[in-house]
Amino acid sequence: MLKLIRGEVLHFLSDPGEETGMHRSVASYRHFEDGALLVEDGHIAFCGSWQDARALAPSGTPVDDHSGRLVLPGFVDTHVHYPQTDVIASPGKGLLDWLDRYTFPTERHFNDPVRAAETAEFFCDELLCNGTTTAMVFATVHPESVDAFFTVAQRRDLRMVAGKVMMDRHCPAFLRDTAQASYDDSKRLIQRWHGIDRLAYAVTPRFAVTSTDAQMQMAGALAKEFPTIALHSHLAESEAEVAWVRELYPWSRSYLDVYDHYGLLRQPAVYAHCIWLDPEDRRRMADCGTAIAFSPTSNLFLGSGLLNLREALDDGVRVGIATDVGGGTSFSMLRTLAAAYQVSHLNGYVLPAMRAFYLATLSGAIALGLDESIGNFSDGKEADFIVLDPEATPLIARRMKHAETLEEKLFVWLTLGDDRAVKATYVKGVKQWERAAWSSAAGSSLSAACPQGGSPRSG
Ligand code: GUN
Ligand code: ZN
Repeated sequence: MLKLIRGEVLHFLSDPGEETGMHRSVASYRHFEDGALLVEDGHIAFCGSWQDARALAPSGTPVDDHSGRLVLPGFVDTHVHYPQTDVIASPGKGLLDWLDRYTFPTERHFNDPVRAAETAEFFCDELLCNGTTTAMVFATVHPESVDAFFTVAQRRDLRMVAGKVMMDRHCPAFLRDTAQASYDDSKRLIQRWHGIDRLAYAVTPRFAVTSTDAQMQMAGALAKEFPTIALHSHLAESEAEVAWVRELYPWSRSYLDVYDHYGLLRQPAVYAHCIWLDPEDRRRMADCGTAIAFSPTSNLFLGSGLLNLREALDDGVRVGIATDVGGGTSFSMLRTLAAAYQVSHLNGYVLPAMRAFYLATLSGAIALGLDESIGNFSDGKEADFIVLDPEATPLIARRMKHAETLEEKLFVWLTLGDDRAVKATYVKGVKQWERAAWSSAAGSSLSAACPQGGSPRSG
């Protein structure tokens, strides 16, 4: 099955770094103003100019024409909790209070396969309409919550990473497992799901606070037994949490050192937040290929702190962008990039738009250890991509008229964009989401938008 996608095409080959405009190394990205993808059986067969793609494709190859819009690899959300879809917009005094008050009581219900499946469906719809085609996902402590999520992701042919939460202390009894049960359940889930279709498992101790020494050892044992499997947790998010970890693990040099001690640093391993690290921690993460999931809307919402993105990148740490719903306030990676820009600015770093879009695509894929399959349009990769609309809203359309360079255009989407900017989302070359255009005749409001083959959701 061959298909041509025509549009302005952009993808990254490496970190564009700090250089902007004329001075940027063109080796880090590819950009075709009148470009195209040739997709064959769900994979990229060619990415280049429309002229070259058309010459290559047999006559009669169907064309999806997105001329005037930007075709970009799908976003990679490197840390998000699907069971917290119903926790979003719940205020708290800080991380620990918020967990106790809203998060744990909500997660309690995910031993119910019906509730878990319904939430997973909604969550996947939400990812797709925001242009996110891959995510690294926390389930809950219940194995049923993982089965429900992977069942939904598998049916939609999504590339997803997820895992059962391991937690055996400092949480309500209704969410507590044991070291042995968490090992047994995780292993069973790995054997059932890891490597099936586009699914991958992540060993997922919630954070050092909620696991005993025995459970941390079990997480380490799973990591050793399955050396290519991803690890996923939280690290150094709030100052109160860091102080608690210091009390619980008095022998540790730092919070990161706790995970290191149990053999939980490697590539791929993703730690959300990482705000309160020192230079030695960053050096160690860089050496291990362990990634930070930068979650700026969550960090602002919970009052956790401001990640110093520049220091992390300068020290060679892998960084992905994450919504961290429900601590995060949006499923939109564009809104999350806007917050990343603002948080970085407060730390004295002006994040270039090109680098921001790199972080949200290829860098996220690298963090998850999936860059052989996704993250850009290199030959043979899976054709997960999105189409960004320069006329998504009246304001974006108006502002876009004054954007002359690619960097300026990206910055408009980053600053003003949200789910409305995502015109279409394709998974393995098949359109899974398309948004209807706004119409000034209808009072400038968006008309209904539909998942392909699904029921309309209001725009
Ligand atoms: N730390 C431990 N659990 C969580 C969680 O669910 N959300 C966030 N933001 N931080 C955590
Ligand atoms: Zn989280």
